[in-house]
Amino acid sequence: MAGLCVIDWTNAASGRLAARDFGADSTWNARAPELATRLQGEIKAGRLPFFSMPYMETLTESLTRLTPRLRTFKHMVLLGIGGSALGARALQKAFFPGQDRPGHAGPWLWIADNVDAISLEAWLAALPPEETLVVVNSKSGGTIETLAQYFLLKNWLQQNLGEHWQRHLFMVTDEKKGFLRQEADAHGIDSLPVPDYLGGRYSVLSAVGLVPAAFLGMNWQSLLKGAQATLKPLADNAPAALAEHPAFSLAVWNAALMDKGYGELIFFNYIPLWGMFGAWFSQLWGESLGKSGKGSMPVPAVGVTDQHSLQQMFLDGPRDKACLFLTCPNLPKGRAFTEPLAPGWEFLAGKRFGDLLEAEALGTRMALASNAVPLAHLEMADTNEKCAGRLMALLGAATVLTGWLLDIDPLDQPAVELGKRLANARLGASGLPEESARLKAFLERSGTRQEF
Ligand code: PA5
Repeated sequence: MAGLCVIDWTNAASGRLAARDFGADSTWNARAPELATRLQGEIKAGRLPFFSMPYMETLTESLTRLTPRLRTFKHMVLLGIGGSALGARALQKAFFPGQDRPGHAGPWLWIADNVDAISLEAWLAALPPEETLVVVNSKSGGTIETLAQYFLLKNWLQQNLGEHWQRHLFMVTDEKKGFLRQEADAHGIDSLPVPDYLGGRYSVLSAVGLVPAAFLGMNWQSLLKGAQATLKPLADNAPAALAEHPAFSLAVWNAALMDKGYGELIFFNYIPLWGMFGAWFSQLWGESLGKSGKGSMPVPAVGVTDQHSLQQMFLDGPRDKACLFLTCPNLPKGRAFTEPLAPGWEFLAGKRFGDLLEAEALGTRMALASNAVPLAHLEMADTNEKCAGRLMALLGAATVLTGWLLDIDPLDQPAVELGKRLANARLGASGLPEESARLKAFLERSGTRQEF
């Protein structure tokens, strides 16, 4: 329906999933009162700022004050990884795609979210330090990939700018703890806090996502308003709102899907400029729900591109896939095809380029539905910031509620710690004798090696 963002559930029951499995009388739905009480309690205790956004007013004031200063720079290098980078990249690609296009005249946002010596060297060789702001995004202030880049960039700024180096740094980190907080305090570096209990993958609607967005010139106020519109009913009165809330409906549907053996969730996105929302969502879903042998694997796909890469698997591979299908019927359609057209292609006359996207989205949606892939269709009213805020809020809330239905903690990520400790041990960090011994044993194992 025009003007509203909606979930169309018409094709949600399919394959092994029956409507009764996630309907009003399902065992999953019956847990609504329990989840509502828990949600209300957690919000009251201040442990779910993603829902209640208690930081909103202060953040709005700070960002409004800071934006003119941020925008005096031509380049921003954003150091961060995982939840400290993916939201910013999704917003950049969706709302400021100019950097990927001919003739772009700035501002430029460079997101350094990998240990990629080649890109880092290329940036440092070409960026003008006097026109560059380095933003360090890290909730913990102790993530090795981010800190490693910080040490190198700090050195680069010091060498090039002398005593003014601090003015070219900005930190988004915990208000009180962590190495970056100490650095900011020790050197008088400007900073904004990541609110307590707001983990990386839930933090796009805080300074983590909004400092780069403000630098680019985004209407971040509308993004926040959209998110608030979706979350407010839950934040204000979960017992009254939860059972009918679309985030809970999505959670119930997904819990039922997993129960029926659907181990993969395709995020099929037919809003091309929102392509990176898939990577953002994948982290949110994967890191939050992959626990105790539970969860479903998020599979980001972009229409129409991935019709020509993954679609065969979606339609005729293992029957373990469900789909979140994202469209916006009001996308600009671009130019029309004019006559004369090549023989056999005359039917395109008068149609516009965007009609092709719409037709292919419909074709794919119907093909998935006809091939017994349970599908929930998220239809966006618009691709403005407000609707993006609504979507991000919906998916974040649905992720938390799905985790609760699965009886796992959607806010932690304990399994990723081992690899981090082993990497630190490999580099000689102290206090990791057990990890060092395990590494040694791992490397000493004899195995077969095959040349290719
Ligand atoms: O979602 C998460 O918690 C993680 O992906 C973190 O964002 C990531 O590990 C980076 O952590 P930090 O922001 O503490 O540097």
